Amino acid sequence: MTPLLIVGAGGFARETAQLVHAINDDSPTWELLGHLDDDPAKHGTVVDGVPVLAGSDEAVKQDHAQVVVCTGSPRDYASRARIVARLGLPQERYATLVHPSASLSRSSSIGVGSVVLAQVVLTAAVTVGAHVSVMPHVTLTHDDVVGDFATLAAGVRLAGGVHVEPGAYVGSGALVREALTVGSYALVGMGSVVTRDIPRREVWAGVPARFIRPATVTTEH
Ligand SMILES: CC(C)(COP(=O)(O)OP(=O)(O)OC[C@H]1O[C@@H](n2cnc3c(N)ncnc32)[C@H](O)[C@@H]1OP(=O)(O)O)[C@@H](O)C(=O)NCCC(=O)NCCS
Repeated sequence: MTPLLIVGAGGFARETAQLVHAINDDSPTWELLGHLDDDPAKHGTVVDGVPVLAGSDEAVKQDHAQVVVCTGSPRDYASRARIVARLGLPQERYATLVHPSASLSRSSSIGVGSVVLAQVVLTAAVTVGAHVSVMPHVTLTHDDVVGDFATLAAGVRLAGGVHVEPGAYVGSGALVREALTVGSYALVGMGSVVTRDIPRREVWAGVPARFIRPATVTTEH
């Protein structure tokens, strides 16, 4: 069993802990040591049966363990990129976690540090980068490219040949028309129907999706 630390103790991190249990139920693989979280008030607590041990810097000290960074909400979806930059760990320290119920085609690939939750489908020649969060029931179709640190919330569906650039957040249930680009660190609102390219660092939402406001993400760590 390989020791594993999950950075973050919020919703997505807890979902990832459950994913680790599901992998272990199939085949004992990970020794889940606990969560790391930069909120000191959480240290010493237990979430869903998993202890919150310390701050994220503990990942550097515990160099025998694999790590996965599971922070990020629509309010601060650049946090994963900031934490990974700050920790400065070599690539081989990062785990890649895929739920046993996900359907991954042979011609698709997933980068290090990425997490793929239950019932996700990657149909053909889908490229998912590093440290990407793919939430339940996301459907990625032929030739989609999802950049590093992107987040695809539950139920997102990308038509073929869509590019989601690094750091972008696609909200739950959004649909993206074929061959479009969602720009780097853009935010697509829940339930949106995206019919045009979305420029980087802009928030778009609605049916069809329209510009709402500039994004307010902080990418510098
Ligand atoms: C798009 C979003 C970021 C906007 O949030 P915000 O900046 O706080 O904006 P507000 O809620 O003040 O809304 C601004 C306007 O956009 C509209 N709007 C917000 N979200 C919308 C959406 N998803 N679809 C259509 N219109 C939306 C609001 O009704 C409001 O319109 P108005 O000015 O005519 O009243 C947010 O609503 C959203 O969709 N976040 C993603 C949520 C998600 O997917 N969570 C998944 C967690 S796993």
